[in-house]
Amino acid sequence: MIYFDNGSTSHPKAPGVADAVRDIIERGCFNINRGGYAGAYEVSELVFGAREKVARLFGGASGREVAFTSGVTMSLNVALKGLLRRGDRVVVTQMEHNAVLRPLAQLRAMGVEVETARCFADGRLDLDDMDAKITARTRLAVMTHASNVCGVILPVREVGAICRARGARLLVDCAQTAGVLPISMRRDNIDILAFSGHKGLLATQGIGGLVLSQELAAEIVPLVSGGTGSYSDAADMPTELPDRLEAGTLNIPGIAALSAALDYIEETGIAAIRAREAALLKRLTDGVNSISGVRIAGTDNLADKIAVAALDFAGMDNASVAARLDEEFGIMTRCGLHCAPNAHRTLGTYPRGAVRCSLGYFNTEAEIDLLAVALKQIVKGR
Ligand SMILES: Cc1ncc(COP(=O)(O)O)c(C=O)c1O
Repeated sequence: MIYFDNGSTSHPKAPGVADAVRDIIERGCFNINRGGYAGAYEVSELVFGAREKVARLFGGASGREVAFTSGVTMSLNVALKGLLRRGDRVVVTQMEHNAVLRPLAQLRAMGVEVETARCFADGRLDLDDMDAKITARTRLAVMTHASNVCGVILPVREVGAICRARGARLLVDCAQTAGVLPISMRRDNIDILAFSGHKGLLATQGIGGLVLSQELAAEIVPLVSGGTGSYSDAADMPTELPDRLEAGTLNIPGIAALSAALDYIEETGIAAIRAREAALLKRLTDGVNSISGVRIAGTDNLADKIAVAALDFAGMDNASVAARLDEEFGIMTRCGLHCAPNAHRTLGTYPRGAVRCSLGYFNTEAEIDLLAVALKQIVKGR
């Protein structure tokens, strides 16, 4: 079986992840901040260490500014619903995932103004339009770091600089880029970073988080409130991170998985991961471009892309192509609209959708070559 659906979730996970989960469960998967015994302190250290690793990976100030959540969808909901109030203005791009669009649709119904900056037909952001739409009235810009449909990388640093100049904040959805591209919150002018552990970070589902400053966290009205194991006599949620955004029991097995995966990523190096995935994307692109009847939607400048390719077939239904890839060749892809309808509208693949091949660090050249063979046969028999 060949797995090209890493944009959905990574497979396989990083070496060490399965052992880390087994190990914590066998040793004692105790809660932190609640138990006064050695086992609980050990788990606290593991969680503290994981926060530090996340902060290091993203150039955050400190591990205390990392709040764990169930994933990027929850992180985006916490940030958007906690920050935005009636009358606030927010700017997004045409490449956003429903994890951004749907919370904003709810907020729009409550009086938040949502504006959309244009992307070109190849997926790249029209920075002039973004510049024009971020005004002194804009509270927040929200953008994906890279499109989960066509892989185009958006100019986060430039948008962040515009936000800084106008007094707006920048929230970045790093679902597709965490563990895949170098990211530095300081250098890239990111105020709030949302991530999931199970995609490029090579850990398990159900763990992710937010990285943001203490000052900004104090402005967020917590979406979820409850026990934190701290300030138990207070009626309100603590003002400081991470407790402010971490009500209830944490996903300790998920944090153990993330911690082990982050060790692997640190040892391997983001530069090596990026180089490997770029080489695989080049091979896939060359292979697909040699076949008539199929095109790759979005920019063909590979330096501007993560290892995602949306295949658009002339006169063929993408769902049946994906089904044939799976049934006849054992190649797993994802068809349809990929939870990002506006991205497909922009790329000219709406409403039919596309067959997305999203590569991972563990894919091989031989697997890519098999895809080309399979596509040739499918297109020939059209
Ligand atoms: C760009 C983008 N944002 C958000 C998400 C949501 O991620 P999760 O399901 O891990 O919360 C995804 C997942 O596909 C994504 O690609």
